[in-house]
Amino acid sequence: MDPSDRRAGIAALFDQLAPGYDRSGVPWFGPIGARLVELTAPRPGDRALDVGAGRGAATFPLVDAVGPTGHVTAVDLSPAMIDQLRTEAGARAVTALAARTGEATPDTLPPDTFDVVTASLVLFFDPQAAETLRGWVTLLRRGGRLGLSTFGHTDPAWAAAEAVLMAYAPPDVLDARTTGRAGPFATTETMTALLESAGATDVDSHDEPLEVTLPDAAAWRAWTMTLGLRQLWASVPDPELPAVLTRIEAALEPDRGDDGRLHLTQQVRYTTATRP
Ligand SMILES: C[S@@+](CC[C@H](N)C(=O)[O-])C[C@H]1O[C@@H](n2cnc3c(N)ncnc32)[C@H](O)[C@@H]1O
Repeated sequence: MDPSDRRAGIAALFDQLAPGYDRSGVPWFGPIGARLVELTAPRPGDRALDVGAGRGAATFPLVDAVGPTGHVTAVDLSPAMIDQLRTEAGARAVTALAARTGEATPDTLPPDTFDVVTASLVLFFDPQAAETLRGWVTLLRRGGRLGLSTFGHTDPAWAAAEAVLMAYAPPDVLDARTTGRAGPFATTETMTALLESAGATDVDSHDEPLEVTLPDAAAWRAWTMTLGLRQLWASVPDPELPAVLTRIEAALEPDRGDDGRLHLTQQVRYTTATRP
């Protein structure tokens, strides 16, 4: 598929997700975005760029970190996400923030400009990840810092539950856009190589666990319907849904703790680097 068609597909998926996005009550994008900003270490007064900003999981921690003398630019392919972000910025009375629809490339933003660029859970959607990343690096000034979050492993029960859904997905969606873990996103070593080939140095890529606690498999479905995983649920024919839910329930059972709730663990991969 043509890269611009794929990006249109990404925008359409997140336009659909935007109203309920990150409003499921499960702490997920927020803690990941905040930790990414912490590790990327913006300073007061910095000019920061958040690519694939969504509803602002990394954007608002950046706004707080750069303070009133700094400035944040937020970019997203999805117009509906940018609308939600602007509404949230208004509610928080944030002024030093420019939010715009589209991509972040040297054609759309001034190169050699930003002190910090972040992209939280974004790059694995891109059909041309290496090329896109090279563009983000050139938007940094020399010595500027880049921070990406992606996914590492999920615990075995969670992986088994996802595998039930994956079995229904057409082959062309079983890549990094749906798993977040294929190709250059597979390991911390491949992430380091990706960043270095994009012209960044001083790369650190490591995983940190994030636990999600849910009452049952139905809650897992409700939550994952608010994520990119929604496109996998869409592949399940309606008549098969009850059987799929039963299999997912069984798959998640090993994660049930003594408190009767499911405790799922996702390794989140944080990769930071510098433009030399
Ligand atoms: C999983 S969401 C993450 C949003 C936000 N960073 C967060 O952590 O909540 C991915 C977002 O990246 C956007 N996106 C994907 N590829 C992009 C690209 N190349 N340029 C700009 N936005 C992109 C999507 O539209 C979507 O809103």
